[in-house]
Amino acid sequence: MSDIQKIIEGNRQWAERTRTNAPDFFAAIAEQQSPDYLWIGCSDSRVPANEIVDMLPGDIFVHRNVSNLVLHSDMNCLSVVQYAVQVLKVKQIMVVGHYGCGGVKAALEDTPLGLIGNWLRHIRDVAMKHKAILSRCTTEENLLDRLCELNVLEQSYNLCNTTMVQEAWRSGQQLEVNGLVYGLDDGLLQELNFCNDEPDGVETRLAEAVEAVAALCR
Ligand code: CO
Repeated sequence: MSDIQKIIEGNRQWAERTRTNAPDFFAAIAEQQSPDYLWIGCSDSRVPANEIVDMLPGDIFVHRNVSNLVLHSDMNCLSVVQYAVQVLKVKQIMVVGHYGCGGVKAALEDTPLGLIGNWLRHIRDVAMKHKAILSRCTTEENLLDRLCELNVLEQSYNLCNTTMVQEAWRSGQQLEVNGLVYGLDDGLLQELNFCNDEPDGVETRLAEAVEAVAALCR
């Protein structure tokens, strides 16, 4: 069986299984989507959004890129955020990083990477900003873990400062922005204590969350 046949066959079996479990599932979901959540995560194949939080198709709007970056000039990510906030009116946006992130690791190395080096440069900027904290890490593993966490915090902070999130908060729309990190080795999501549902105090909450990460430097 060729690779694409394997994919099609897998899809047939999944659709069949889903129909058996819930005969009306596809009819209901084809009408419209109304997810309450937006997931902004890493493209890493080991971090599939729906499966990790045990949700079905229709439950979660997803944007993934290498190392879960939220950049003020990335029209792809910003368009997803706009649609999610203004049209779908999601109530929760999660920025989800993961330990052992290849992009974060590559950003710390000096090897020339070509085009993606420009993308990962943003993680180097995060590392530069927090170099005093990161200099306290005595092992490479600890350094990588802390930078994965700091990257989630900084990307969540960027998200809080997008025009869409700011406008939503100003107009009284219910919207929470959270930073989470996923463990490849235990399958668990952890909060990074950076939970935002209003524009006031974002900087203070960021500083507190960064301090909590700093306390984990070994
Ligand atoms: Co990754």
